[in-house]
Amino acid sequence: MPDQPARPDTLLLRAAGAAVLLDTSGPGLPSVLHWGADPGDLDAAARSRLVAALAPAVPHSALDTPWPLTLLPGEPDGWSGRPGLAGHRDGADLFPRLVTDGAPTVTTTDDGAQELVVEAADATAGVATRSVVRLEADGLLRVRHSVTNTGAGTYVLAGVTAVLPVPARAGELLDLTGRWCRERSPQRKPFDHGTHARESRRGRTGHDATLLLVAGTAGFGFRHGEVWGVHVAWSGNHAHLAERLAEGAGAGGAGVLGGGELLLPGEVRLAAGESYTSPWVCFSWSGEGLDGLTARVHRWMRARPQHPRRPRPLTLNSWEAVYFDHRLDRLTELAERAAEIGAERFVLDDGWFGSRRNDHSGLGDWTVSDAVWPQGLRPLADRVRGLGMEFGLWFEPEMVNPDSDLVRAHPDWVLGPAPGADEPAVTSGPVDGARLPRPWRRQMVLDLARPEVFDHLLGRISALVDEIGVAYIKWDHNRDLHESLTPGPDGVRRGGVHLQTLGIYRLLDALRERHPGLEIESCSSGGARVDLGILDRTDRVWASDTNDALERQSIQRWTGLLVPPELVGSHVGPPVAHTTGRQAHLSFRCVTALFGHAGMEWDVTTCTPEEVTQLQGWAGLYKELRGLLHSGDVVRADLPETGPAAGAWLHGVVAPDRREAVYSFVRLTTSADLQPPRLILPGLDDALEYEVVRRDEAGAPWAVETVPVPWFAAGRTVASGAVLRTVGLAAPLLNPEQAAVLHVRAL
Ligand code: GLA
Repeated sequence: MPDQPARPDTLLLRAAGAAVLLDTSGPGLPSVLHWGADPGDLDAAARSRLVAALAPAVPHSALDTPWPLTLLPGEPDGWSGRPGLAGHRDGADLFPRLVTDGAPTVTTTDDGAQELVVEAADATAGVATRSVVRLEADGLLRVRHSVTNTGAGTYVLAGVTAVLPVPARAGELLDLTGRWCRERSPQRKPFDHGTHARESRRGRTGHDATLLLVAGTAGFGFRHGEVWGVHVAWSGNHAHLAERLAEGAGAGGAGVLGGGELLLPGEVRLAAGESYTSPWVCFSWSGEGLDGLTARVHRWMRARPQHPRRPRPLTLNSWEAVYFDHRLDRLTELAERAAEIGAERFVLDDGWFGSRRNDHSGLGDWTVSDAVWPQGLRPLADRVRGLGMEFGLWFEPEMVNPDSDLVRAHPDWVLGPAPGADEPAVTSGPVDGARLPRPWRRQMVLDLARPEVFDHLLGRISALVDEIGVAYIKWDHNRDLHESLTPGPDGVRRGGVHLQTLGIYRLLDALRERHPGLEIESCSSGGARVDLGILDRTDRVWASDTNDALERQSIQRWTGLLVPPELVGSHVGPPVAHTTGRQAHLSFRCVTALFGHAGMEWDVTTCTPEEVTQLQGWAGLYKELRGLLHSGDVVRADLPETGPAAGAWLHGVVAPDRREAVYSFVRLTTSADLQPPRLILPGLDDALEYEVVRRDEAGAPWAVETVPVPWFAAGRTVASGAVLRTVGLAAPLLNPEQAAVLHVRAL
């Protein structure tokens, strides 16, 4: 797309069916008049006419003139909702009147995005801003703002929130919540007047973090309805919000969606000349339900240069296999069995270092334990490599047990309040009486804002990566941050989550720079650090600590709203899930793990020969299908969620050229209906003829039928994309917690 004229009054950015219309006539920041469907190519005259046609009436008891919803709306604009920019200078300069220099520029970047950059300032208030709005090639809209203190004295920033308007028809909200082992539970409510804010003060993204906050038309689903979603790409404190006031969102709509970093009071204090830059806030619109919104995010992620491109290695992780019972012979046997099944990566989890024989002590002491690994980790790592697998290792860099050599040597490295005059500092063991955050899994947090902490961690991890030949790090983070206080140059302890989050990003960046090719997984007691900020510098997330396949069906379905399957770790666990006690058939566990970055987390040395054969079949199927699974569009059919037919899901991945797809029909529970709903296979090309083939390599699903569904028993059928989308096929009578795999190829 050619660059737009230098000083337009209006701008229309368009990409892949999405568009944003901005009034750039100034003098304030541009205001957003439309974010949603692409209205087509409009010349300058048509855009001006449209802007004029969108001017609203002035009601009684209201501002005397129409007011704009600018990119950083505030009281000077007439906006009574949450301000885009909040801050003050000792109580003054509360309401900057941001004026642009009249020259917003739009350029097309090398990666095909249209990037609008606007600078604005209020010389009197001593505040300047720089806003970047990027419409990516696949229609994802990303916004970030920087704020600079151009005045004298300290400007205390209270928050920067990026918002965009949504129309009145976006009357329903969907967001996600959860807890350990049950991440990403959906919840829906009407988008009424008021502010629906999902805030995290956990110092990490959070088990309950909503990956997307979505507003949509009544009853929107995966394949239908118009939806607008927002995601804040940040791993510290943050807020997502949907806000609706009676007076609407200027001429732009009825409400706003937005978000940003949540700052602790006084956490960001800008000295004269200093700046703050917000995280990217990502906005995705679709006229075709949640799948369309997801597709924009996944496509954008896959186009990033750092996106992992080599086949995602089938993994064995040692955690649920051996926990803290580390022994060379036992783990060698595990590695040998893993390789026999087809694993390509072996990850040694917690327990290999310091005095870490359980989770009471040793966290932070990143030296290989002589007690359990007298010859170091090389013998195991070499054996793993000899078996043709990569060697991965677990770390939890930001955390310490108070009972650790590190805390004994450096009690002041712990993030938290300073000890009172008559309170003991952190020493070792129990820290009763010290002014510390409440322990959580017996651990405290290291203050990454301290250069010595940063250097220590970088040095230790880097040395181990070199010594042992670590190809993959499982990077864990197992507690919320509370009372995160870090000393500033004046010695006063102030809010430290912002610096902690930047510190962890810098540490990850430095390690990746030192060790090109090193892959990193973001784990946080399962899925408590899943966001696009951490995924800028990591290669997958651990979606949950539960390997219970039934729980995983739901967790992966909703994690996939934002994160593409190749970045979502998904393991076959033991027959009885350790986290729920639920028993599941091997085929259901295998099919569930197939639709992610697959692996095993089970003592596979205990498997029967039949189980080994089944796992080998599954491993082969994963390797055959992963190219498709990890590059196609994720689709989810809208089967009934309530009523007599509820209890079954159908999801899949469709190749970009629509010539191949793989689906899973999942029976979650029994239903009141005797017959399941028909299999509707979404996302195919109506005009193509397809062969639908049942793939049982991971084990045949268990059905209770007198006479089976004929085509399913035969193992294959042929139908057009239009038939599969509209009419569907008869579904087998699967028992609960059973799943079938269907492989579909154009003839
Ligand atoms: C966390 C992780 C688990 C495992 C343990 C080890 O709970 O989420 O996968 O690594 O820590 O202590």
